Amino acid sequence: MAGATGILPIIVAIIIFSIIPSEIEARTKLYTTAVVHDHHENPTNTISPFQDDFCKSTVESKGYSCQQHQVTTEDGYILGLQRIPVGRSGKQADKPPVLLQHGIFSDGVTWVRNSPEESLGFILADNGYDVWLANSRGTVYSRGHQSLTPNDPDYWNWSWDELAAYDLPAFIQYVHDQTGQNIHYVGHSLGTLMAFAALSEDDNVSSKLRSAALLSPIAYLNQIRSLLTKAAAYLFLGDQLYWLGLHEFIPKSQEVSKLLGNICSKPGINCSDILAAFTGLNCCINSSTIDVDPQSTATRNLIHLAQMIRKGTIAKYDYGNADENMKQYGKPTPPLYNMSSIPNNFPLLLSYGGKDELSDVNDVSVLLEKLKDHEQDKLVVQLVENYAHLDFVMGVNANKVVYNPLMDFFGLH
Ligand SMILES: *[C@@H]1O[C@H](CO)[C@@H](O)[C@H](O)[C@H]1NC(C)=O
Ligand SMILES: *[C@@H]1O[C@H](CO)[C@@H](O)[C@H](O)[C@H]1NC(C)=O
Ligand SMILES: *[C@@H]1O[C@H](CO)[C@@H](O)[C@H](O)[C@H]1NC(C)=O
Ligand SMILES: *[C@@H]1O[C@H](CO)[C@@H](O)[C@H](O)[C@H]1NC(C)=O
Ligand SMILES: *[C@@H]1O[C@H](CO)[C@@H](O)[C@H](O)[C@H]1NC(C)=O
Repeated sequence: MAGATGILPIIVAIIIFSIIPSEIEARTKLYTTAVVHDHHENPTNTISPFQDDFCKSTVESKGYSCQQHQVTTEDGYILGLQRIPVGRSGKQADKPPVLLQHGIFSDGVTWVRNSPEESLGFILADNGYDVWLANSRGTVYSRGHQSLTPNDPDYWNWSWDELAAYDLPAFIQYVHDQTGQNIHYVGHSLGTLMAFAALSEDDNVSSKLRSAALLSPIAYLNQIRSLLTKAAAYLFLGDQLYWLGLHEFIPKSQEVSKLLGNICSKPGINCSDILAAFTGLNCCINSSTIDVDPQSTATRNLIHLAQMIRKGTIAKYDYGNADENMKQYGKPTPPLYNMSSIPNNFPLLLSYGGKDELSDVNDVSVLLEKLKDHEQDKLVVQLVENYAHLDFVMGVNANKVVYNPLMDFFGLH
């Protein structure tokens, strides 16, 4: 561990010095593509055709009913939300609603991708919960906006600050209005960060939630182990894309592949298994379910995450200069989110993995230290030694290892 930490600055230095010529070439290409890139999307408040497909091919095909909903955020984004109101038995849900919030590069399908016995979305429905699958802005199910299209740079002018301040409260308010009940929350990865931020700042969120189960928790990121991710953060890759005009970050685009290729060719970074290089080695994923299309996010969101990796704080987006920060926040540095201000009696379950290279055990320890005044019987912490980042949502044994204890926890609140 200490050895790996010591070698990292050297690796980063090597990358910085050796990447420059190829970087210039990449920039030229990026710019050209950015201008040409065009989805022909219009401002829309109709239900995305992809939503239909979500219900038909991933939910109804497995014997469950599926409803499509849409939610408009205070800043005008129109988001898709799927509901599985009953389990396969057809028996009306007799337990509270559960809102499932996916992580970055992902969408609501992540909760229903495996078999009904293995997928949290289906397991909850079969156990009598009313299941709601959220899709963050920018994913294929949530590309509507009252006045913008995804071709407008302004559409992508957000980071997880906005996911926490707008998307999450909008989903919670909507499910609360529809069901008349308080809600259990499940977040994975960026879905946990959204919850930490919202719970620490917004009483309207904690007051409508019964509890939150946070899998692969992300709050402090400076001890992240994924060298690939760390190198990308220290190279300011997100910032480079942004200044080149690439506001939408499309994971499988040529531009991104090229930049990744550059990092992967550096000594010390092994991308032979790109997923493992990013998330850590997942022990328990069925290789036949892995082939998924990663979803877009805002380049600005990645810049914000990279700031967390470099600074070790959980703070609002840093505009990079004191004047602009002053204009936005009334102070020269971005305000911190205060994890200790999450209500001490709010029921929290944190489940994290010993092999997770994004949600590192040491970073989770820092978070737990901030939560040290949380009421003992309102905080459940689980370490799954052999789990990496994606095992929590796609692991074939997650039903026994994580979801059963999670439902026990829900049952208490
Ligand atoms: C992005 O939004 C901020 C406010 O959050 C605004 O000050 C800024 O001008 C916007 N940037 C662009 C490029 O529109
Ligand atoms: C909470 O809800 C009230 C009433 O709708 C609203 O006035 C207030 O601004 C909300 N607080 C936050 C932090 O959004
Ligand atoms: C890279 O990782 C793979 C397994 O993921 C391993 O087989 C290979 O030997 C590694 N290469 C280097 C140079 O360490
Ligand atoms: C892996 O996925 C395949 C195809 O969906 C399925 O047939 C198989 O049973 C799965 N294996 C496990 C252990 O879930
Ligand atoms: C964070 O919140 C806690 C609990 O409300 C408070 O005691 C503490 O002073 C806050 N810390 C900062 C830096 O504002």
